Amino acid sequence: MYAEQFQESLKAVEAAREANIALEPRRMTADEKDRLLETYHPDYRMDQFDVLTAGPNKGEKVPKELAAILQAHSRIAKDSVDLNAPDYDVDVLIIGGGGAGCSAAIEADEKGAKVMVVTKLRTGDANTMMAEGGIQAADKPNDSPAQHFIDAYGGGHFAAKRELVRKLVTDAPECIQWLNDLGVEFDKDENGVMVTTHGGGTSRKRMHAAKDYSGAEIMRTLRDEVLNREIPVVDFTAAIELILDENGNASGAVLMNMETNQLYVAKAKTVIIATGGAGRMHYQGFPTSNHYGATADGLVLGYRAGAKLLYADTLQYHPTGAAFPEQIFGALVTEKVRSLGAKLVNVKGEVFMHPLETRDVAAASIIRECMDRGNGVDTGDGQGVWLDTPMIEKIGGEGTIIARIPAMYRMFAKYGIDMRKEPILVFPTLHYQNGGLDISLNGETPNIKNLFVAGEAVGGIHGRNRLMGNSLLDIIVFGRNAGRMAGDRCKEVTVGRLTLDHIDRFDAELKAAGIETDVVSPKLLPKYTPDFKYVCKKAEVR
Ligand code: FUM
Repeated sequence: MYAEQFQESLKAVEAAREANIALEPRRMTADEKDRLLETYHPDYRMDQFDVLTAGPNKGEKVPKELAAILQAHSRIAKDSVDLNAPDYDVDVLIIGGGGAGCSAAIEADEKGAKVMVVTKLRTGDANTMMAEGGIQAADKPNDSPAQHFIDAYGGGHFAAKRELVRKLVTDAPECIQWLNDLGVEFDKDENGVMVTTHGGGTSRKRMHAAKDYSGAEIMRTLRDEVLNREIPVVDFTAAIELILDENGNASGAVLMNMETNQLYVAKAKTVIIATGGAGRMHYQGFPTSNHYGATADGLVLGYRAGAKLLYADTLQYHPTGAAFPEQIFGALVTEKVRSLGAKLVNVKGEVFMHPLETRDVAAASIIRECMDRGNGVDTGDGQGVWLDTPMIEKIGGEGTIIARIPAMYRMFAKYGIDMRKEPILVFPTLHYQNGGLDISLNGETPNIKNLFVAGEAVGGIHGRNRLMGNSLLDIIVFGRNAGRMAGDRCKEVTVGRLTLDHIDRFDAELKAAGIETDVVSPKLLPKYTPDFKYVCKKAEVR
C-alpha cells in the first residue's frame, strides 16, 4: 500500500491500464537508439571515466573507480611469501566459486585433473545465485543458434568477438540438457516441455527459467555436484596475486585467509579466473543488483600480471532495479516481469518505450524520462518510473504472478506492496560488467599462457551490451570450456621457477607514468560508511 504522495500518479496509471495493455508502441530506429544512448546512457558520461596510463590497456578509458584499482599496488611485497614452499600444489586452480568456477571445476575433474577451488566467501556466494529471469538457448523448433547469434551479436552493437558468440549460441542447447540432467528444475509444461519466454532483444521465446530464481536453482545444482565429486574448495580465502613462472606462464596464486589475513602459496599448472563482476564498485554512484563480493578482483589480478582487458568501459545498468522502498533500493526486478506483460509507464501513466527494447536502450529511456522530461515519480529519496505489474494478471490470468515470479511477489509483499494489484517503482541499477579479460576461443588469455578466464570476468562475449539470459548461459558454456581446456593443458605443463616479479614491474610502470597512489588491490569487499549515498539519486545524470 503506497502513501498519499503516490496516489495521484497511481490513479493515472490505473486509468490508463486497459489502453496501455492494448498499446503496441513502435520500436525505436537505430538512429534514435544511438542518439538516446549517447545522451542518457551512463557509459557515455565522459567525466566518469579515466584514461589508463599504465598496464596493457594504456590509452584506453575505464570507469574512474576501476582505473583506481587497476593502477594500484599489490597487497603484498614480492618477498612476503616463500614461493619455494607451496602450501598447495594442483593441476587446475580455480579462483571463484560461482557458476563459472563450479562449471569449470566439474569439467576439469571429469578430465581427471587435480582441481582446487578457492573462493573469498563460500561456494555459491556469487552473482549466479542472484540471477533471476533465466538462461537462453535456441532449442525449440521455431528457433536456431543462428537466430540466437543475430540477436546476441546485434544486441551487443556488433562489437562482440564473433567466435565467442558463435560458441555461446551453438553450445547452448547442450548446456541446458546438461543442467537438466544434473538436476536443475526448469519450468516445464504438463507434457514435460520446457516453458520459454522472451527477453529484451530476443526474436524468439528462448528463455528457460526456474520461476524467478533461475540462478539460485542452477547454483544449487552446480554446488551439489562439486560437493558430490569431493572437489576441494578452500573458502573464505581470496586470491590476491597471480604467480607466474620464469617463462611468464600462469603458475598459481597467492591466497589470503579473509579472517586471519594469513598468506598461502598455491602452485598450479593452470589457473582459471572466475571471479565474477563489479557491481559493488558502484560505478558513478549507482546502486547494484550484485552480490556482496562483486569487486572486479579478477580484472585486477589479470591486469597486473599482464593480461589485456576488452571493453572494460562498458557496463550494464539493468533498467529495472527496485527504486522503492529504500530497503530494497537497487535490488533486481527481473526482466521476466516485462516478459510476462508488465509495461513501464511514467508518472502520468504513459507508456514511453517498447517493452522489449534491449537493456541499454530501456535504461537510457528511463533515465531520460526521470531526469530530462520531468516524468519520473518522486520516491522521496530519488526518482523512478512505474512497472505496471497488475497487467500481468490481466494478460496471463489470475495467479500468474505467484506461479511465475513468486520471489518478486515476496520481495515487495514484505513491504506491504501487492504487485498483483499495484505497480512497482523502478530505476536502473548497476547489474553487469560487459567487458573484462580478453580470451581466445579456448578460454585462455592471449598474452599469459595457462591463464584461463570464465564467466563475468571475461570481456568480448557480449560486446557492448548483453541480452538477458546470456550471462547464465555464458558461465556454463565458457566455464565448462575453460575447465576442459585447463584439464587437458595441465597434462603437458611443466612449471618453471615461481616468481612474483610482475609486482615490481607493474610498480615501475606506475612510477614511470607518474601515478602516485596508496590504493592497494584487489579490493575484495566493498566498504560502506554510514554516510554513503548513491549519487544518482540526487544528481542530474547529464
Ligand atoms: O532480469 C533478469 O532476470 C536478469 C537476467 C540477466 O541478467 O541475464
